[in-house]
Amino acid sequence: MTVTADASPSFSSLDWGRVDLDQVPHIVAPPPGPRSREYHDRCTRYFKGLSGQVKLFPVAFSEGAGCVLTDVDGNRYIDFSSGIYVTTLGHCHPKVSEAIARYASTLMNAHDFTTPIKTRLCEKLAEILPGDLNGFQFYDSGTTAVEAGLRVLRAASGRNEIVSCYYDFHGKTYGAVSLGHIRSQVYGRVRAAGMHMVPRPDAYRPLWTKDDGTIDTDAYLRFYDEYLDRATVGDVAGFCLEPIQGWGGTIMPPEDFFPKLRQFCDERKLLLMMDEVLASWGRTGKWLCSEHWGIVPDVVTIGKGFGNGFPVTAVAVREPHKESFEKISASSSYGGNPMACAAALASTEVIEQDNLLAHALHLGEVALKRMRRMRDEHPIVGDVRAKGCLMGIELVQDKATRRPLEEAGRLVYQKAFARGLAWIPAGHILRMSPPIVMDERTLLKGLDIIDEAIGQTEKELGYAS
Ligand SMILES: Cc1ncc(COP(=O)(O)O)c(C=O)c1O
Repeated sequence: MTVTADASPSFSSLDWGRVDLDQVPHIVAPPPGPRSREYHDRCTRYFKGLSGQVKLFPVAFSEGAGCVLTDVDGNRYIDFSSGIYVTTLGHCHPKVSEAIARYASTLMNAHDFTTPIKTRLCEKLAEILPGDLNGFQFYDSGTTAVEAGLRVLRAASGRNEIVSCYYDFHGKTYGAVSLGHIRSQVYGRVRAAGMHMVPRPDAYRPLWTKDDGTIDTDAYLRFYDEYLDRATVGDVAGFCLEPIQGWGGTIMPPEDFFPKLRQFCDERKLLLMMDEVLASWGRTGKWLCSEHWGIVPDVVTIGKGFGNGFPVTAVAVREPHKESFEKISASSSYGGNPMACAAALASTEVIEQDNLLAHALHLGEVALKRMRRMRDEHPIVGDVRAKGCLMGIELVQDKATRRPLEEAGRLVYQKAFARGLAWIPAGHILRMSPPIVMDERTLLKGLDIIDEAIGQTEKELGYAS
C-alpha cells in the first residue's frame, strides 16, 4: 500500500490517517508469520526483557504509515496502540518527520544553550497550556520527566514526602518506581523512603459508596486527611498521580475527584503534580487531560505523543515554581535538543491546525457508543470506558461479582491481533489508544474485530452470549 508523504500546506492529518478499508487489515501469512518468527528468534537471542505485548504476539514490524503497520511478512494491521500511546498523529507524520530531519542535518545537540526552535516551543507551550503553567524543562523519557517533577515538588515545597495512588504507573527509574503500583520483585524490591500510596476512586470498583450505591469521592478525601495525620511524618510535599490510569487499565476518576483533590491540596498547602506522560497532547481530546476537570496542576509531566515518536518529554510548572528548576540543576544531555524541540513543536502545530483535539473527542464518543453495545451483548464485558482516544474494556467472570477474567484478556488480544489489529494487552482489561488522526470507519472496523474476538473467546471459555 502506498502512502504519499505530501506535507504541502493543504495537507490534512485526517487524510494521512485515513485507511483504505479494503486494504487493511490484510493478512497474507497468518501472523506471527515465518519471517517474523525468524527475526524474533534471532533478535531475542540477545535482546531480553520483552513486554507482555510482544511475548503474547511476537511479530516483527517493518513499516508504519498513518494508522497502518506492516510486518516483515507483508501483513498489514490497523494500529490501535500508537506504538505504545506514542504516535498519536499516526506513524511517520510527514510534518513531524520533516521537522526532525531538518535539525538532524543542521544542529543535533547544543546542551541547554538557547536555540530558536526551543524558544519557539516554549512560547507555544506558554500560549496553549492552562493557567500560569509557563515554566518548562525538557527530557528524553517519561520517567526522567517524572524524576525531575518530583525534585521540583521537593524544591518548591521544602518538604520531602510524596503521596501517590494504588495502580498508578509512573516509569521505571527509582523515584518513579517508588510512586507506582510495583511488585517489588519486578522493579526494585525496596520503595524509596518517604513515598506513600493511597487508594483512588475507581467508579467500577469503589471502596466507599454512598447510600445510593454510587462512589463516595468524599470518603476518599476523608481517608487522605486521616492518612496525612497518622501515616506520614508531617513532611509531605504533595500528591503525584495520573489523571486517568493508563497502564492500570484506562481507569477514569469520578468527575468530582480532581476538583476536590485540588481544593484539598490548596487547603493543606500541598502541591499537586499530575503525571500526564500518557494522557496529554491530544490523547484524550485536550492538551492536558486535567483540563477535562478544569483544574491546573502545580507540576505536570508531558510525554509519549509530545514528539509523536521522537523521544521528547517535558515538565511544566506554574509561575511561582519556575525558580525551582534552578535549584534542582534541571538540565540533561538530551533534554531540549533541537531535533526533540522540532518534533514537539511540529506535533503541537499539527494538532492545532488540523483541529485534532475535537476529532479525538469525537472518536471517543463514537467508540463509547460501540463499546456500550458490546457491554450489553457480551456476558464477559463488565465495563467500557473512553475519553478521546484513550479507551478500555474490562473483562469479568460475572457482571454481578465483577471478578476479573484474566484468561480472556490474553485470548482476545491474540485473536484480534491475528486478524490484523495491533494493540495492547493488560490482563483482564483491554486497552486501546488509536492514533487521533484515525477516521471513524477504521475505528469501528477495529472495534468490530475486538467484538468478534470477544465472541470467540466466550465460546472457547464456555460463556454463552
Ligand atoms: C503515566 C506514565 N508516566 C511515566 C511513564 C514512563 O514513561 P517512559 O516509558 O517514557 O519512561 C509512563 C509509561 O508508560 C506512563 O504511562
